[in-house]
Amino acid sequence: MTNVAVIYYSATGNIAAMAHALGEGARETGAEVRIHRVAENAPAEAIDANPRWRAFLDMNQDDPATLDDLAWADAIALGSPTRFGAAAAQLKSFLDTTGGLWATGVLAGKVCTAFTSSSTAHGGLESTILAINNHFYHWGSLVMPLGYHDPHVMKRSGNPYGASFVSRSGAAPDDEALMAAQIQGRQLAIVASELSRGRDQGGS
Ligand SMILES: Cc1cc2nc3c(=O)[nH]c(=O)nc-3n(C[C@H](O)[C@H](O)[C@H](O)COP(=O)(O)O)c2cc1C
Repeated sequence: MTNVAVIYYSATGNIAAMAHALGEGARETGAEVRIHRVAENAPAEAIDANPRWRAFLDMNQDDPATLDDLAWADAIALGSPTRFGAAAAQLKSFLDTTGGLWATGVLAGKVCTAFTSSSTAHGGLESTILAINNHFYHWGSLVMPLGYHDPHVMKRSGNPYGASFVSRSGAAPDDEALMAAQIQGRQLAIVASELSRGRDQGGS
């Protein structure tokens, strides 16, 4: 059984929807999947100033991510909305608690991937994914991009860095973006499973 952890931050629900689509894609392969949100740490007055942010925070049922989810996983997908061209501070805060896992090499060799959403097409989708990927390099993980080999990505969704969605004026992720996330999850679980099979057969 391949263990897949999908860890995300989402203020208004777009990344949460993509996280669940990605998890569904991984589950289709028979993998065991955990989907968790990272803790909210924005001040209440900032959240209350945006009714969509407050409403999503109050209704989100996903449990908070823990370091154990990362240690447990063979494969990890991290998702965040684009915030000024990089990941949200809430995800970064969680990642900044992984020093102990990093120091003991627990994260090395895991297969990792990233996904995002921004409000504009050129607002930093790729830079956000690349910024998340930086953590994977430091952990010694294997970075799995979405690539272009699936026809859906090549012809429709079009971002080989990772599943992404342009939300414009508050739109929710469409079928195209959710399908890309699902493909990414499926691919992540398959790569992790093939890797562990290779390791079981005598690799390291
Ligand atoms: C503080 C802040 C910074 C943002 N920065 C960007 C940005 O640099 N580029 C962009 O296109 N969208 C930006 N956005 C828009 C979000 O990335 C976008 O609405 C995303 O779909 C939200 O995802 P969520 O519903 O999962 O929170 C920003 C939003 C906020 C609140």
